Amino acid sequence: MTKEQRRNLFKLLSFRSAMKTLIIYVSCHHHNTEKVARAIGKLLNATLVTPAEANLDNISEYDLIGFGSGIYYASMDKELQALVDRLPPLNKKAFIFSTRGMGPSSIYHRTLRKNLMKKGFIITGEFSCKGWDTNGPLAYVGGINKGRPHEKDLEKAREFAEKLRNIHSSPSRGL
Ligand SMILES: Cc1cc2nc3c(=O)[nH]c(=O)nc-3n(C[C@H](O)[C@H](O)[C@H](O)COP(=O)(O)O)c2cc1C
Repeated sequence: MTKEQRRNLFKLLSFRSAMKTLIIYVSCHHHNTEKVARAIGKLLNATLVTPAEANLDNISEYDLIGFGSGIYYASMDKELQALVDRLPPLNKKAFIFSTRGMGPSSIYHRTLRKNLMKKGFIITGEFSCKGWDTNGPLAYVGGINKGRPHEKDLEKAREFAEKLRNIHSSPSRGL
């Protein structure tokens, strides 16, 4: 059975326990993070919104909420972080994802992770990959990571999403 067939079968079998997933993302540089958001969102059948579009009044309807952005000056997007500050306490599952030029995602995710946990979220996974970066002087040389996220990155994002789906069926596990 091919990967695609396995995914379709899984979709069919898990249809009865469809979890409601929301992805809130910011992707203002080259839409790198948006590509990842769409890849993950497709597998999870998620609603994708920006922080400006997010409706905090109905956020508790979702079982799983993903927070994603590019890394800007060693941090997740400020607007995304401000939205998290405005959230009511929620006992929900969440995941974090990003694209970045270079450097360690675990450090870049740290503040958002901490603030989500303060709001009562259980972080069930984190994903990051390289993204095309032409910030500042990098523009003069065409940037770094041109073409990324590429198909292999997006495949890894889809694998990450599949793991999230599995966690939903066995609630005590995390990535
Ligand atoms: C203003 C700005 C600051 C950035 N700062 C960092 C940084 O501190 N560390 C890093 O790894 N990448 C940094 N980058 C690169 C972006 O994280 C990378 O290009 C990312 O894929 C952009 O995602 P987006 O296209 O979804 O906005 C920066 C890019 C911009 C535009």
